[in-house]
Amino acid sequence: MHPILIVDNEIDVRSSLAHALSRNGYPVVYAANGMQALDEFGKGRFSLVISDMRLPEMSGIDLLTAVKRLSPQVPVVMTASNGTIENAVEAMQHGATDYILKPLSLETLETVIRNACRKANAQARAVSGGRDLEMISGPKTMVTRDPKLLKVLKLAKDIAPSKATVLIQGESGTGKELLASFIHIQHSRDKRPYIAINCASLPDGLAESELFGHEKGAFTGAMNRKKGKFELANRGTIVLDEISEMPLQIQAKLLRAIQERSIDRVGGTSSIPVDVRIIAISNRDLKTEVKEGRFREDLFYRINVIPLTIPPLRERKKDIPILSRHFLEKYGSLYAKPVTRISDAALSVLMGLEWPGNVRELENTIERAVLLTETDSILPEHLFLEHEEADTDPSPRIRPGLTVREMERELICQTLKKVDHNRTHAAEMLGISIRTLRNKLREYKAEGLSEPEDS
Ligand SMILES: Nc1ncnc2c1ncn2[C@@H]1O[C@H](COP(=O)(O)OP(=O)(O)OP(=O)(O)O)[C@@H](O)[C@H]1O
Ligand SMILES: [Mg+2]
Repeated sequence: MHPILIVDNEIDVRSSLAHALSRNGYPVVYAANGMQALDEFGKGRFSLVISDMRLPEMSGIDLLTAVKRLSPQVPVVMTASNGTIENAVEAMQHGATDYILKPLSLETLETVIRNACRKANAQARAVSGGRDLEMISGPKTMVTRDPKLLKVLKLAKDIAPSKATVLIQGESGTGKELLASFIHIQHSRDKRPYIAINCASLPDGLAESELFGHEKGAFTGAMNRKKGKFELANRGTIVLDEISEMPLQIQAKLLRAIQERSIDRVGGTSSIPVDVRIIAISNRDLKTEVKEGRFREDLFYRINVIPLTIPPLRERKKDIPILSRHFLEKYGSLYAKPVTRISDAALSVLMGLEWPGNVRELENTIERAVLLTETDSILPEHLFLEHEEADTDPSPRIRPGLTVREMERELICQTLKKVDHNRTHAAEMLGISIRTLRNKLREYKAEGLSEPEDS
């Protein structure tokens, strides 16, 4: 059995519950507040969550909602010291399995645990595929179960309260901007400014004024004094996206701003102190840019204080199922379509691809599939993939000169290969029955043609 997660800000309640449960053979993990609970929740699997309604900062209902969004099948039992009917109704509406009043007797608890687990098991059987480990960040969710990326997120969280400059690198579409906002949110749930600039689209000649502002009359067209992005981000976060594209002469000014923690408006006479956390983002390898003379070495060392690298999706394929489900829910509710599952065959297709466009490409694919399907499921035919494994899998081509029968065999063999020789999946993808598939394979064999090996 996976542990039970107990969330309560009162240490007495926590420890007496933990004591009673573990003495009775239930593994227990506890947390004193919602964020801590989500933290724990991101680290492992739980068979049940027991949380108080009243928690400091994040409320019990918020925690319940977050848990349900991440792992709908994990039962959550809410507890309360002063229960009201309204509270109970609210908890149940947000997906709580049960609502019980304190003080909790072991007897009540055991019944509740048994019921919750029974319900969850029944549900798990009904839903295809389980979902478990994910990482949470309040309103912005970064979904992953990849140990490397989880480590990156843990580090990001640890350094969030500091002012240290962060450099986020990773291929296009891996979630760099998402990670930047994650760091910002971790640090300031209050309303501190978050200013993001794409350095590639800074207007020529106006880059300096955009970043650092200008005084009235500083140049032709400077009719009024204008604050730059650094000043606007004061006390908050400034994100310099695609920093490798920043013009060299601006790089020098940026270096100064970082070193001095102050900026000069164009045409200004005195420096203005700024208190900002800088997050630089790049999908090019900055070290190479330095080597080739396109990026200042001293600036590189200034921003590379905390390097965070997001691995590409092809190196964390185990994320594909949970990301797919995450996007399925997102677009299912956005387009109000009751799509609830991704067929095993469709998932096998998704797992088999290399995803040069990373998570963004997967997200687009699922969004399109949600729009295309007319049932509650996403099937392989709803996945229109632009890059169909162009170089890894070149064979199934329609070539004049092949007979229809030869083409059919080719298609069957390739499909089997794609789904790791799982005949059920292959048949589903091909739109034929398993029996038909089996018969065809038998025919090929009888004709002395090689049959793809079985699994
Ligand atoms: N781990 C994740 N969990 C959930 N959504 C994700 C995750 N990673 C990326 N996404 C989503 O994928 C899309 C692309 O992410 P993002 O814009 O952060 O990528 P990027 O690395 O900045 O890409 P680019 O280099 O092309 O600018 C966004 O919609 C984002 O929300
Ligand atoms: Mg980006």
